[in-house]
Amino acid sequence: MGKLQDKIAVVTGAGRGIGKAIAEKLAAEGAKIAVVSRTEANSNSAADGINALYPDAAKAYAVDIADGHAVAEMGKQVLADFGHVDILVNNAGVTKDGLLLRMSEEDWDFVLNTNLKGAFHMVKAFQRSLLKQKGARIINIASVIGLMGNAGQANYAASKAGLIGFTKSLAREFAGRGVTANVVAPGFIATDMTGVLDEKVKAAVLEKIPLGDFGQADDIAATVAFLASPEARYITGQVLAVDGGMVM
Ligand code: NAI
Repeated sequence: MGKLQDKIAVVTGAGRGIGKAIAEKLAAEGAKIAVVSRTEANSNSAADGINALYPDAAKAYAVDIADGHAVAEMGKQVLADFGHVDILVNNAGVTKDGLLLRMSEEDWDFVLNTNLKGAFHMVKAFQRSLLKQKGARIINIASVIGLMGNAGQANYAASKAGLIGFTKSLAREFAGRGVTANVVAPGFIATDMTGVLDEKVKAAVLEKIPLGDFGQADDIAATVAFLASPEARYITGQVLAVDGGMVM
């Protein structure tokens, strides 16, 4: 029996990359998964992939998490389909990089509205259900950039630092009901998001990683599965960097 047998988990950005790996890992541990992604094709194919291994374990939902109304509607549907939610993983995220001198208000809003406000909308949609479950979990995927800052990523760094403050506040507000809230801060993980970077940038990043390698989506998924499990019941309000030692 898995560590998360029959738990209900909602994972955003689960159509590909890190979110997909998280959804698959939680399903492997016995959880039922609401696969949430912006694009219907991605969420359907990720859910189909899970169902092929674990029959009827996943359902797909397509929603833009920046749209509060749409998230509320999706939330009602998830609760109608699954009954309740035990684990919420806010993983969906975007970048729109550029030096501040050239950064438009639209680029700022796009990143903040998805990465930070999207997590707010998701917690609002599921907080009542989470608070009713014993030992519910909120796990937010930030980034080491939220701890360090990065030239050319003021919007992204602000969104991820904001997510850390948001999570610590949730940890305090929800602790009385035994609900934990933690952040996983990935370093450089090999996915579509980082695949677009040029080789020079990748080589410069690699030099700053003591373990000398990029991370894999499965490294993040394993950490999330641990934080979601009963073994992590006494951990809340923490930021766990999974970054090969980049930030310490
Ligand atoms: P990705 O770009 O491969 O996947 C992101 C997923 O989020 C996609 O499925 C996309 O459809 C979904 N998404 C984006 N905007 C959305 C919206 N408005 N509504 C619903 N879904 C939306 O990204 P990746 O690399 O898998 O990253 C996942 C998370 O990990 C992000 O929050 C990212 O900031 C974070 N992260 C990634 C790192 C990396 O090296 N790849 C490093 C640090 C953090």
